[in-house]
Amino acid sequence: MTGLNGGKLVVASHNQGKIREIRELLEPFGLEVVSAADLDLPEPEETGSTFEANAELKAMAAVEACGLPCLADDSGLVVDALDGQPGIHSARWAGPDRDFAMAMRNIEEKMQQKGAVSPKQRTGRFVAVMCLAQQDGSKEFFRGEVEGHLVWPPRGSKGFGYDPVFQPEGYNTTFGEMAGEDKHGWQHGQDSSPLSHRARAFEKLALALLPKP
Ligand code: IMP
Repeated sequence: MTGLNGGKLVVASHNQGKIREIRELLEPFGLEVVSAADLDLPEPEETGSTFEANAELKAMAAVEACGLPCLADDSGLVVDALDGQPGIHSARWAGPDRDFAMAMRNIEEKMQQKGAVSPKQRTGRFVAVMCLAQQDGSKEFFRGEVEGHLVWPPRGSKGFGYDPVFQPEGYNTTFGEMAGEDKHGWQHGQDSSPLSHRARAFEKLALALLPKP
């Protein structure tokens, strides 16, 4: 695997919330970031049964389509009381209209049916797996997770997806109530430890492949 020293990097995603966060994470490294949405690349069907498999198929599809280094993120919300659901199907639970209000309600109803009412019964985590694929066929994986619990009702409108119902361990605010830099864990400057699953995965990628900003 060759390091990434300047040049173009394609973020293999059509999800604007994710693209925004990955751009913010990559900004200090002097790479020109374009997204699969900007390049009008097709969105492959996510047929894998793990975060890794889906990240790989998205990254590989983008490399084949554009010939540039491509970074894909497969992520989701894993709820313990629901045996890990929605997990790799987190996007699918929001339906074709990407209706996350409905998806969050659906999770809440299912948790109520299971009697998951106290914070201890409502634990879960966000997981992100990043796959960086390059033209030489190499690919590398980086996984990040953040523990927390599910709150109801949803709070905050700063994030995307399931952010308003996820409160990370040790915090009183949901991801939906946090500005981008707080969700990344940059509230004390960029040397502080990362907080979100995506920032944690990204830190591993940056250590392995990126020159210091
Ligand atoms: P996929 O990786 O394209 O399969 O989609 C992952 C889905 O998980 C997203 O559409 C969101 O619903 C959810 N998700 C992943 N990361 C986050 C996050 O940081 N905040 C809120 N929801 C997320």
